[in-house]
Amino acid sequence: MINTAPHRRETVGADMSGSVLEWYDHHARVLPWRVPPAMSRRGVRPDPYHVWLSEVMLQQTTVAAVGRYFRDFVARWPGVRDLAAAEDAQVMGAWAGLGYYARARNLLKCAREVSTRYGGRFPDTYDALVALPGIGPYTGAAIAAIAFDRPEVVVDGNVERVVARLFAVTDPLPASKPLLRSHAAVLTPQQRPGDHAQAMMDLGATICTPRNPACPRCPVREHCLAHARGIEAELPRRQPRSARPARRGTAYIARRSDGALLLERRPARGLLGGMLGWPGDPLGETDVVPTPPLPAAWRQLDGEVRHVFTHFSLTMTVWFADVPHEANPGERVFLMPDEFDAAHLPSVMRKAHALAFPHRGLSGG
Ligand code: ADE
Repeated sequence: MINTAPHRRETVGADMSGSVLEWYDHHARVLPWRVPPAMSRRGVRPDPYHVWLSEVMLQQTTVAAVGRYFRDFVARWPGVRDLAAAEDAQVMGAWAGLGYYARARNLLKCAREVSTRYGGRFPDTYDALVALPGIGPYTGAAIAAIAFDRPEVVVDGNVERVVARLFAVTDPLPASKPLLRSHAAVLTPQQRPGDHAQAMMDLGATICTPRNPACPRCPVREHCLAHARGIEAELPRRQPRSARPARRGTAYIARRSDGALLLERRPARGLLGGMLGWPGDPLGETDVVPTPPLPAAWRQLDGEVRHVFTHFSLTMTVWFADVPHEANPGERVFLMPDEFDAAHLPSVMRKAHALAFPHRGLSGG
C-alpha cells in the first residue's frame, strides 16, 4: 500500500467525515432500532437496550434478516429487565434461526448482569460495556458510540471495506486490520460519532458494496484513493481461507403413536448448546455407526441435510421410526406438536424436520 502522509490523512479525514455525515442526513436507512439523524442531531439518543440487542443480532446476519427477530424480542421483552426475567428456553427459542447460540446465552447473562449490577441501565463507557458478558470490542464500541455518542472507533466488515478503498489498503485481511482501524480512527469525529459510525455502515451497505460499488453516488469519491486508481472493486483483499473441514452426523426422529416427537435439550456448552434438537450420534469425519436413542424399526430417510457452521460443514443423515406409546424417553422428552414450535429449532434441526415431514411446513410434528 502507498504511504499516506499523516498530516494529509488528518485533514482529509475531517473533510471526509463531514461529507459522510451530510450524506447520512439525507440517506440514512430507516431501521427499527435507530434514531433518525434529524432527531439525533437534536440530541435524541436511541434506547441502549435496542442498540445492544440489534448489535448482538447483527453479528450473525444481515440487517434485513434481523428486523423480524428484533421486533419480536422487543415486543416480548420491552426492556432489559424483562429479558433478564425471561426463561432461558423462551429466549433460546426466540433466537432460533439466528445461529451462534452461545450468543443467545450470553445475551441473557448480559441482560441479567445489567439488571442486577446496574439496575437495568446499560453502562455508558466502552470499558464498562466490554466487561459485560458477550460484549466484545466491536459491540462495546458500537454501543458506546451509537447509544451514548462516544467517539469510539467502530469497525465492522462494512467499515473495513469502505476504509480499505478510501485509503487504498492493498494488504490482505485479516493482517491489515490494525491499519484499517487506524484509518477508521482518523475519520471518527468528536461531533456526532454515533451517527458517523452508522453512516459508515450504511455507506458500506448501500454504496460501497462488495461488488459493483456505486461510486458515482458516493459522497467521498473525490477522496477515494482506490477509486482514483480504478482498483475499488478489488479491495479489500483477503488471505484465502482454509477450506472448512467436513463432518458427518445423524439425526433421529422418533414419533410416538400419539404424534409426540422425541427431542433433547443439548448440553449448555458446545455446538448448538442449550438448544432443543433431535437426538444424534457424535459427529465424525466419515459416516458414523448409527446408534439410535431407542430400540425401534429405524429407517434412513431419502436425502441428506447439509448445513454450514463457522468451523465445519455438516452432512447429516436423518433416521425415522414410529415408536409405541410406552417408549421410554430416558433423559429426553416426547413433545406433542403443540408443545414445541419447529420454527424455534436451530436451522440444522429444522432441515431434518423438513426432511421427515416435507408437507408440514413449520407446524411442529
Ligand atoms: N450493522 C451493524 N450494526 C449496524 C447498525 N447499527 N446500523 C446498520 N448496520 C449495522
